[in-house]
Amino acid sequence: MVAAWLRRARRVAVLTGAGISADSGLPTFRGAQHALWSRFRPESLATPEAFAHDPALVWAWYQWRRALVARARPNPGHTALVELEAAVPVCTLITQNVDGLHRAAGSRNIIALHGELLRDRCTGCGRESPCTIVASLADAPCERLEPDRCPACGARLRPAVVWFGEPLPEGAMAAASAAVRACEVLLVVGTSGVVYPAASLAPLARTAGARVVVVNPEPAPDDVARQLTGSAADILPALVRRAFA
Ligand code: APR
Repeated sequence: MVAAWLRRARRVAVLTGAGISADSGLPTFRGAQHALWSRFRPESLATPEAFAHDPALVWAWYQWRRALVARARPNPGHTALVELEAAVPVCTLITQNVDGLHRAAGSRNIIALHGELLRDRCTGCGRESPCTIVASLADAPCERLEPDRCPACGARLRPAVVWFGEPLPEGAMAAASAAVRACEVLLVVGTSGVVYPAASLAPLARTAGARVVVVNPEPAPDDVARQLTGSAADILPALVRRAFA
């Protein structure tokens, strides 16, 4: 049934979370933490306050995550969304992920709500640039590392991601809201749906009359049109094949 909805749809939106990258070997945001940081909740590390209080701890956590992302590759779930974008007249990919795997897979119409992990932003002059990856940290992370400094002004660098309590990129939610209001089908893939404002997009789509389909191994939290239970890397390729093959 979902395949038929996608085949007939002129406008599809997809909202993804960390779960779609789980099959690329990346821990989900609320999934297992490395022992070095297991005493911290991720939500407490991904904040301006944590970085101000202990920049070396937060920077080390991000450098570990960057090393993991740098060796990760897009999985069949990411690739299926590239094929979906090619098959549907208007397909908008809204992601909470910061790992860059959708773009690496070939998706182009992307709204990145929470920024980009592999880019730095200067806390002084605001300049953005690709970050430095220390590959060895993936398997042998350090608990503390002094943040890199801006080559232009010397101020500390920070990851170019949206921390808790910070505003989303200019226009991102407006574009995402417009896409889910206009779509006939919204696929909600690999997200716990607990972080706002991203979590407001599925209810917004439903209110606008879209069919909301959840792809997740865990049961969906509330009434959705359909829940496809399982991993994105299994479900999405089969769904797109059934819809457009
Ligand atoms: N396929 C699909 N979904 C999966 C898979 C998989 N293979 N493995 C796990 N999941 C699901 C989990 O059941 C869970 O619902 O992915 C979801 C991951 O949830 P979170 O770890 O909370 O990640 P996410 O929903 O993306 O978090 C949202 O919170 O703090 C912010 O910036 C952070 O973007 C993140 C946001």
